Amino acid sequence: MRVLHVVGARPNFMKAAPVWQALGARGVPQFLVHTGQHYDAKMSGVFFSELGLPEPDVNLRVGSGSHAFQTGEIMKRVEPVLEAQTPDLTLVYGDVNSTLAVALAACKLGICIGHVEAGLRSFDRTMPEEVNRVLTDQISDLLFTSAPEAGVNLLREGIPRGKIHFVGNAMIDSLVRLLPVARMRPTAQKMGLVGKAGGTRPYVLVTLHRPSNVDDGLRLERICQVLGMVGQQCRVVFPVHPRTRVRLDGMIEELAAHGILVTDPLGYLDFLCLQERARAVVTDSGGVQEETTYLGVPCFTLRANTERPITVTCGTNKLVGDDVEKLYGLLTSVLASGRQAHEPLLYWDGRAADRIADVVVGFHK
Ligand code: UD1
Ligand code: UDP
Repeated sequence: MRVLHVVGARPNFMKAAPVWQALGARGVPQFLVHTGQHYDAKMSGVFFSELGLPEPDVNLRVGSGSHAFQTGEIMKRVEPVLEAQTPDLTLVYGDVNSTLAVALAACKLGICIGHVEAGLRSFDRTMPEEVNRVLTDQISDLLFTSAPEAGVNLLREGIPRGKIHFVGNAMIDSLVRLLPVARMRPTAQKMGLVGKAGGTRPYVLVTLHRPSNVDDGLRLERICQVLGMVGQQCRVVFPVHPRTRVRLDGMIEELAAHGILVTDPLGYLDFLCLQERARAVVTDSGGVQEETTYLGVPCFTLRANTERPITVTCGTNKLVGDDVEKLYGLLTSVLASGRQAHEPLLYWDGRAADRIADVVVGFHK
């Protein structure tokens, strides 16, 4: 059994690292392909060292572009790699363009595909990620799900039950392993978030990158106005994704004047350290909805829907939808009330990758 893994964008690295390590521990020969969808040191390089992923064996260096360009170019560039490597299984992660592009190329070469984080559905086909999820699942041979509703979605779409493996959340494996390391970091001190007595000052952590929020100038401006109002009450820390950085140009000084600390994207450990201690998180990230759920941090998701409904039903995540102004009231009330305890989610326990590796080792088409 030889396994080829594909990573490309920031959220892939935290999911792939534990699976790489679990298969390595079982002596499985592995090959790592980076598509180059994300390429800045702060969107890619930093995660390899922090998560303990090796240097990729191949980097396709596809870079940025339209959906068709990125997807098509990855397919063209990965095809010869797949032909040369002839893996028994290609593992793809999440829902980014790299995920679908490599799955499609592998499928056409008759190479088996395992999809980690299968079955999540927002039921909103205007999201490029939803198209990537549905299509990747249709052509996958092993579908690894992180929550029970994902299996239900797959069965509804006609995926045979025998292909679906409820293994839990691989992204949470990285969190469980590295939280003790993240806690040791002086991130909050360095950002001036620790008071003279040594306690952490209350702050809200923000991360935004969905086109629906940041490509619409008016909406982004309204979000920034609300964050500015919150910034009058407590610190707001806003590590800015490169997609968002382009759109924020010219607004950064105004944000700083309103108490918002704008930074470059943070490494995994620094971001995790800040997430755990935040009074609340405002986001449109998929992974951050899950991480805040594990950590029990109140999360406000600036989207009308989520493919991760379990984060809402368990009580940590609230969908704010289109009514950005509602966010201010929600944040001020959570700043006053604090956190609520919730039951741990099944298989969000740091062992999802072991379950995946056991299935992979026993897999024969
Ligand atoms: C992509 C994924 C999205 C995921 C997000 C995680 C798709 C369709 N989208 O969105 O699902 O949630 O990654 O972060 O796959 N850029 C840089 N440096 C980089 C990478 C990107 O400057 O290293 C800039 C470029 O201007 C680029 C823009 O960011 O055009 C968007 O990058 P892209 O990968 O196309 O989409 P994301 O918004 O990052
Ligand atoms: N993350 C990070 N630094 C940041 C923002 C996010 O390390 O400045 C991590 C976050 O902890 C999570 C992952 O990036 O593990 C989520 O990726 P992202 O939000 O880019 O993508 P999505 O999950 O929305 O697809």
